[in-house]
Formats: sequence, C-alpha cells, structure tokens
Amino acid sequence: MPIIVCENNIFVLETSNTHYVLGIDAAGCNRHIYWGKKCDVRDYVIDYNKDENSHNTALDEIAQEYTPFGSTMYRGSALKATFADGCRETDLKYVGYEKTDNTLVLHFADTHYPLAVTLHYRLAEGLDIITRWTTVQNTGKEAISFEKLFSAELTLPSKKPYTFKNTNGGWAGEFLETNTTVEGGTAVFESRGGVSGHNQVPSFIAYQNADETAGDVYFASLAYSGNFKVSASRDLYNTTRVLLGLNDFDFAYLLKAGESFSTPKVFCGNTQSFGEMSRQMNRFALEYVLPKPYNKTPLPVLYNSWEATYFDVNSENQCALAERAAEMGVELFVMDDGWFGARKDDRAGLGDWFVNREKFPNGLTELIEKVNSLGMDFGLWVEPEMVNPDSDLFRAHPDWTYHYPHRTAHELRNQLVLNMTRQEVQDYIFGLLDALLTENNIKYFKWDMNRALSETGARNLEEPKMLWYLHTKAVYDIVDKLKQKHPDVTIESCCSGGGRADLGALEHFDMVWTSDNTDGIDRMTIQKGYSLLHPTKAMRAWVTDIEGINKPCSLDFRFAVAMQGALGIGGNLTKYSEADLEICKKNIALYKQIRELVQFGDLYRILDIEKDEVLLNQYVNVQKTESVAFLLANGTRFYKKRMPVCFDGLDDNKRYTLTVQNQTYEKSGAYLKNVGIPLHIRGVDYNEIIRIKEVRAQ
Ligand code: GLA
Repeated sequence: MPIIVCENNIFVLETSNTHYVLGIDAAGCNRHIYWGKKCDVRDYVIDYNKDENSHNTALDEIAQEYTPFGSTMYRGSALKATFADGCRETDLKYVGYEKTDNTLVLHFADTHYPLAVTLHYRLAEGLDIITRWTTVQNTGKEAISFEKLFSAELTLPSKKPYTFKNTNGGWAGEFLETNTTVEGGTAVFESRGGVSGHNQVPSFIAYQNADETAGDVYFASLAYSGNFKVSASRDLYNTTRVLLGLNDFDFAYLLKAGESFSTPKVFCGNTQSFGEMSRQMNRFALEYVLPKPYNKTPLPVLYNSWEATYFDVNSENQCALAERAAEMGVELFVMDDGWFGARKDDRAGLGDWFVNREKFPNGLTELIEKVNSLGMDFGLWVEPEMVNPDSDLFRAHPDWTYHYPHRTAHELRNQLVLNMTRQEVQDYIFGLLDALLTENNIKYFKWDMNRALSETGARNLEEPKMLWYLHTKAVYDIVDKLKQKHPDVTIESCCSGGGRADLGALEHFDMVWTSDNTDGIDRMTIQKGYSLLHPTKAMRAWVTDIEGINKPCSLDFRFAVAMQGALGIGGNLTKYSEADLEICKKNIALYKQIRELVQFGDLYRILDIEKDEVLLNQYVNVQKTESVAFLLANGTRFYKKRMPVCFDGLDDNKRYTLTVQNQTYEKSGAYLKNVGIPLHIRGVDYNEIIRIKEVRAQ
C-alpha cells in the first residue's frame, strides 16, 4: 500500500486496485493528474496546456486537488477567504510534503497572506478507499474569514458524462435513489436545515455502465451530519469535477490569529461495481469509521416502546412490555418518548430531562431493576437539542434558543431548537445526560432530533453564520464526552427517522435509525439505499405491527426484512397472540445465530425488489465458509417467477449445503453462482431465510 513519490513532484497513492495521482506543477500549484485503474507509475505527467482565449482560460481548464478562489479561474472553488485588508483572492503555492506508509500531507501557503493550507490523504489497508480532508491555519495576527471551505475536490477520469446516484427522499421515505446524468452545468445535492437530512445524502456515486457486478464506479461520502453540499459539474472541456463539504449556504468561518481548522473527512474510492463499492465501504466503516470498541461487537436485539405506547409510557405498561420482550429473547429494552417532564404529547416537556413522577412514582429505578431482573439492559430516548416553549427549561431560559428579536421563532412539532453554540447550553445538556447515566443503570441512549433549524440568530457568536457548523460540532462533542465518561453506553442517532444517518454521525454514534417507516415492504427499498455506502451493522431495523400499508406483510416477512440490519422489535407485544410470540421467539433465536454474518459479513445484492420484484440479499463471512440469504417477494406478476436463483460471494471450489423451499442441496460455490437453483417465487408475502454452509470433508 505504498505512497510513491516520483520525479517532478508527482505523488501516486497506490491502493489495492487503483492509482490516485496528484502533483505540483512548475508554478507550485496543486494538480490532479489521474484516478482509476493502476497504470505504469513512470508514465504519469503533468499536462501543461497554454491554449486559452480571453474568456476560457488555461487555469480554468486544469484539474486540481483543491482550487482556491481567485485569478482567471472561474469554476467552482473549494476555498474562498477574505483577508484583513479586504482581499478576497487566495494564491496557494507548494511548500513541501510529509509522508508515512499510509498518509501523505501536502503543505501550501498563500504567496502574500498568512494562510497555510494542508491537504491530507490516508490509505486504508486492503481497500481502494482514500480518506481526504483539508486543514487551514491562520499564521498571522488578524482574522481570516472564509465563505467556502470544502473538504475535497475530486476530478473523474472519463471525458464522457457520468451518472450521479443520490437520493430524493423525505420523512418516511429516506434513501430513495435518483440517477442524474450530468452532461453539462452543475448538479447540486445538499441540505440546509442543520442536519444532513432526509432528502439527499452527503455523498456521490458517479458511474458509467455500472450495476451490482460490473462497471466503473467512483464514490465519496462526507463524514458530516450538518448542512452539506455536493456539487458535480461537467465543463466545456468535458471534465467532471465534484466538490464535497460544508455547505457554503449561509456559511462563514472566522479563523482567528494562530487558529487552525480541519474540515470533515471525505471517504472516496473507485471500484468496478456497486456491489464492490458497498462491500468496501462496509468493511471500511467497521474498521475506520464506527466508534470503538463497539465497532467489533455485534449489536444486541433491541425492543423500543414507541409504536406500542407512544407518549403514554408508565411504569406498568413498560413492565408489561418488558416481560414479553424478555420472553422473546430481547437483550436491550428501550423506553422511547414520554417519560420526562410534563410530556403527554409533543406539545410539552422537551428540555426537562427529569423523570415524570406521575407516570413513574418510584422514579426510573423500579423499571430499570425490573428490566435488569429480566436479563435485559435498559435504554432511554432523549432529544437533547430541543425545547418545548411549554417547559420549565424554556420558562427559565427563553434566550437559550436560536431566534431573532424581531422575527417569529417558528415552531415545528411544537418545539424550538436550543442554541447549541452556547457553552451553558452544552453544559446543561451534558450535565443532565451525564446525571441520568450516573444515577441509573442505563446502557443506551436514542438521541433524537425532530426538527430543522430556522431563524438561526445566535448573537453570542462573533460570526453568527458559524452556528451551522458549531451546532453539529456541539452534538458530536457531547456524544463523545458522554461515551468517554460512560464507556459501556452506546448511543443511536435518530432524526425523525433517517435525517442524521450519515458517516459523520457514525464517527460518534454507534448506530443510526434510517426511517420512521417500519412497513416491511417500503423498508426493503430504504435499506437498499442505505446499504450503498453505509455499514449494515449500524442500521437499526424494527419489526413492528405495520402489516403492510399497501400489501399484506406477515410477521415472518417483517422479521426477514429487519434481520438484514441490527434487529429491533417495536410492536405492542402485550397484544400478541401466543402464536405471534412463538414466531418472534423463533426469529430472534435465528437472528442470534446469523447476526455476525449480517453485521460483519459482505453483502451481495443479487435481486432488487424494485427492478426484479424479488429481493435476494446474501451476507457471506470473510472465510466464505458460511452465508445467509434473504429471499423475499411481495406481489410478483405475470406468472413468470420460476427462475434459477443464483448465489454469490462464495468460494467457487468449496462445496456448500443449503435448504430452500424444503429441499436440501449440496453444490459447489461455482455451481450456485453460475447455474443456481430453480425456484418458484410467486405471489405476496413470500419470504425465506436460506442458510448456506460449507461442507467439510470428513
Ligand atoms: C421521532 C423518532 C421516533 C420516535 C419519536 C418520538 O419521530 O424518529 O422513532 O422516537 O420521535 O417522539
């Protein structure tokens, strides 16, 4: 996994299968040279093109690793700074490099002003994924103000147009894929509400002729949960470039004398299929993104009370649910919204993180002890960034929310957003959450965030537009501090479902909630979109009482969908029949046997519910000795579904046994991949979980 320094200041980052090549030109400017399949290292050169006219300049044509705003360069820039004397242009020249086995750091400085810019690159052992980020440092005595500070600029090799996969989703419909071909101009994917959001994702997947098993795929995911921007352009020279980073919408960053700032990271890669992209990103997230130590520990089966009791939680009904949950095999019992302050519905209580004594006369201890005595851990829902105007917190500190004195502070879900950039607000939140963890045997928080920011006045800040960044940073900081003090606690990121289910969140939170939509049918599509760039292990997925809004969807079917992530249960168990309980018991026991495969295995998306009417997802362990496949269909048409079902990811030369549609087969990996097993898959509510195991010679 070398980093090769060639003559003429050319650097080659060599991953398992790719070269990422950059350099410094004769003028000292940073240049992007190539990204893609490996070539002979000796052949890379910097292209010096002097062909320009008075509108389209040579500078505008070159590919760069990081383009500062200024001079005769007119394309979107990665950085725009204003210096103390009002100069708004930056002129960066190369200073030098540092390198280790797996990192390259390139230093640049402005030719006149006291600004140092550092580009960071880090390779990941055995993967084609490179981590990039940028640091700016003020080496002078006066502040520098930034209007743009992207993490990375990426230039794609082909002169033909790329199609960009992103999403166009919403609440209850997150991760719904879109495919936008950028022939000319710019496609922008972004969020502006203070979180990464439900609509688009902070990443890109740019491809040509690609599918699950073949093609050319470039991708990058931004590790950031706040306002982001991904802009993909194709110019008159047919060059496709992408900028990723903090959204420059309503953005500013004031860098004071002596300070430095590092952008969020970008994880980028090039693979030869969507499937390989997802498998690499999954492994990468397990190893390098998810917080330690739980990155390597299978997540427990969780129960969550939300859809069973909504705001009506009390000691009695939670104990009743806990008894049922324990009987089924649940390992972590979570009480959702409604347990604190004057919380009867969503109109009051947020901010008052004290147990409601009417609902819990003996405090939380009684319930927690009960849950523990049933052999389960206990977890709790919180929404720390928020306050209801009808709360003791708001009555005591009406000035603690974002607002402008002469504008209406609009409520969404009857709540306002706390000004997380204020130290006293951060201290208040940390203090109460820390107290909850210290005084009670709580092993998990679900950290929710149920509205977008608005009227974002933050007069405590010298540069109020920094609030967008500082808000997200405050969330990350509090989560980190809580986990440092309480290392046995895991925290889930929820944001009205999947509004904060990104790799930035997953650098701090142990898992994410991808959608409030728990309809098994819809969930197959949502989970597919999530799986493209995010780790399976971190995806909480519940079985609830939604029996299919449009189509019937049995309990077994719902389990077969939810078992493809970190399984949770969210139904009203007190209403379950004995037969339902048995189905739950059976599936939870099965899940415990296969969860290592699902949470840590390689995913092969073989059939797609949207395109094929059938879903076949297969998870294979690293040694290729064991696998589990989920075969689901809901509403096949035209009687056409007798088909050879092929499996993937197995060792061609190993022999495997599997039972499907009540018949047991013993076949080689090669046969299962190329010939397959002919199956009839018809009708609604078809679900089968197929275990595939290596047959070892006696
Ligand atoms: C959000 C979450 C739900 C639930 C409710 C509680 O909508 O996404 O899972 O926790 O809040 O109010």
